[in-house]
Amino acid sequence: MIGLDIPEKTHDESKQGEALMLEKSPVVSNGRKLYIESYGCAMNFSDSEIVASILSDKGFETTNNFNEADVVFINTCSIRENAELRVRNRLQHFKNAKAKNPGMVVGVLGCMAERLKSKFLEEEKLVDVVVGPDAYRDLPNLIEQVDSGQKAVNVLLSREETYADINPVRLNTNGINAFVSIMRGCDNMCSFCVVPFTRGRERSRDAHSIIKECQDLFDQGYREVTLLGQNVDSYKWTNEETTEHVNFARLLELTALVSPDLRVRFSTSHPKDITDEVLHTIAKYENICNYIHLPVQSGNSRILDMMNRTYTREWYIDRIDAIRRIIPGCAISTDVITGFCTETDEEHQDTVSMMDYVQYDYAYMFMYSERPGTLAAKRYADDIPEEVKKARLQEIVAKQQQYSLVRLQTQLGKVQKVLIEGTSKKSENDFCGRNDQNAMVVFPKSDKYKPGQYAYVMAESCTTATIIGKLVDAPPTP
Ligand code: SAH
Ligand code: SF4
Ligand code: F3S
Repeated sequence: MIGLDIPEKTHDESKQGEALMLEKSPVVSNGRKLYIESYGCAMNFSDSEIVASILSDKGFETTNNFNEADVVFINTCSIRENAELRVRNRLQHFKNAKAKNPGMVVGVLGCMAERLKSKFLEEEKLVDVVVGPDAYRDLPNLIEQVDSGQKAVNVLLSREETYADINPVRLNTNGINAFVSIMRGCDNMCSFCVVPFTRGRERSRDAHSIIKECQDLFDQGYREVTLLGQNVDSYKWTNEETTEHVNFARLLELTALVSPDLRVRFSTSHPKDITDEVLHTIAKYENICNYIHLPVQSGNSRILDMMNRTYTREWYIDRIDAIRRIIPGCAISTDVITGFCTETDEEHQDTVSMMDYVQYDYAYMFMYSERPGTLAAKRYADDIPEEVKKARLQEIVAKQQQYSLVRLQTQLGKVQKVLIEGTSKKSENDFCGRNDQNAMVVFPKSDKYKPGQYAYVMAESCTTATIIGKLVDAPPTP
């Protein structure tokens, strides 16, 4: 067993305050306001919190109203063409605000900034600054450059940057769930995917800094962390002084040990890398949630090979069987792409039969969108007609609807341990929260409970997306 120290807990709050004051002197506001809007995956949302932290150290305050902002950032996604179109449309909206306030700085951050680099400044005249995902520490300088009348670009990718020392400013937070980034970049070269180009090489963050961030979150009242990476199973970090090695299974364990009341989730797992050791760790700790997002992309081995996913249908099924064996009742979700280059109807049916085999709890489903510069764009023609991609997508969406319902129905009559997140969107009188398997659970409020607490709820009925139930007093008997 590797002996990474878990920070000693201190219950003397005055001491914590003192330590904080010693670490940081209060930042004086510079009178300027930052508005930041995020698109794409959780990684991007987490990065926006790093950006907010870097700028708040320079005196910027954050605002939710872009009309009153002095600096407006849009943190962008390039994963599909549609994602980029949405950003372009949104930039048009910023035009009016900038017309009213010509001093406003407009910046494009994230994956689209990295993909298009300085081309962005030519294409979108309104944009003043373009910054890639590894260059956020440079933002204060870049803003100064814009203030002095120039346009500014930094899209350098790094092999080391993990922003490990930066304490994110939580944006739009409910104070209960938080994302914690554990690694950056991706070394896989899935042929359809733009991420290795926009996010650079994979690197893992210092394990101590991850555990410290989780501990701090817990101390502030947060009760759920989601460990983020494009491929969390390849997390690996070595402490150069002690030569201790921490892999993903160990990192999960260390996070779980922060407190039994801190729920631990993670995303995304890669079928080629997820190990039995990780599965046994999930099974061992009650607070590591029984939910795995394991993107399959396609159920056909020839297509998987063309996608360069480096596993076969049989390998994927073996991993599913391992999950079912080691963590009975574990929820599984997936990502699927329809109409990848040369995919035949029979090959598409292999994806459909995979869905029948696994009976996913949830799925994110997409039509293939060719991305410039990717291996697939260079090697293969995007030859499946749009209507065929769409028809295949509709078929799997309908199938998933059925299984989402079937999976929630298996919970009926069972007691759910729910972390209460807040008031239900549909009814003021109901709380909502998630169970261990990540299903949304809605139930009538009670004075005895408030958000951030765990409640036990008997599942009485369900839709395809929500379990509806009522509070019960007794915890379930193990
Ligand atoms: N790192 C994760 C996925 C990140 S992208 C993984 O390896 O699974 C999220 C999802 O977007 C992918 O799983 C894939 O299903 C989808 N996606 C990526 N590139 C795409 C493209 N060019 N067209 C359509 N969907 C794509
Ligand atoms: Fe893209 Fe594949 Fe990396 Fe996921 S694992 S980010 S799909 S290259
Ligand atoms: Fe999009 Fe970049 Fe995430 S392309 S999905 S924001 S890593």
